[in-house]
Amino acid sequence: MVSDGSSHPASKCDRVALLFDLDGVLTDTSELHYLSWKGLADELGLPFDRSANDALRGLGRRESLALVLGERSDRFPEQKKVEMAARKNAAYLERVARMTPADLLPGVRALMQGLRERGALVAVASSSKNSEAVVDRLGVHDLLDALVDGNDAPRSKPDPQVFLLAAERLGVSPRRCVVVEDAASGVAAARAARMKVVGVGPPERVSAADRTVATVAELTPDMLLALVEP
Ligand code: G6P
Ligand code: MG
Repeated sequence: MVSDGSSHPASKCDRVALLFDLDGVLTDTSELHYLSWKGLADELGLPFDRSANDALRGLGRRESLALVLGERSDRFPEQKKVEMAARKNAAYLERVARMTPADLLPGVRALMQGLRERGALVAVASSSKNSEAVVDRLGVHDLLDALVDGNDAPRSKPDPQVFLLAAERLGVSPRRCVVVEDAASGVAAARAARMKVVGVGPPERVSAADRTVATVAELTPDMLLALVEP
């Protein structure tokens, strides 16, 4: 990583910051999450399919577990739920360990490089607590000015905490931040942080964004930087 933002002065700088969500934006981990939740659901005899998995997009691990367990969630003691979340995560990390830089979605590296060449700051801002591991596998630490995730910001999206913390670490005002998100909860979090947001994916999922694209490959540095007033 280039820096963790701690060297920036406390006063806000006039640079623009791009805050990229990780899962579903830089790489598509949804199938890895699906297979890992599905293993747990099968053990418990609970129904779980890809559409149920899609509803977990952007939500933290504990919030996701509550949805996987559904109305049965309250019947399990806290300790049991902690174990279930840990079991799912171990299965997920085994799958993450097999990821390679080829799992970076098309266009991402060139987009980040282009943004940095134009003087923008680039960060990952994710609800995941596995961001370091995934970013390591993708090999993009060198392109990041900061990485802020569920370990730093315990309140999962749609809470704006992770985006506000990323802006603070970069020393950039929220009005000079542009978020790139694939989840409805992430778009809501960016709006709550009063940041511009580009939604990636089907319009019915990300229509609350300032702008939407079907895939990350459609994004250009100019398009993203144009969202922030000069
Ligand atoms: C991202 C993904 C979610 C996942 C969450 C927590 O937001 O979109 O599907 O549940 O991260 O991930 P973690 O890696 O901490 O279990
Ligand atoms: Mg996402």
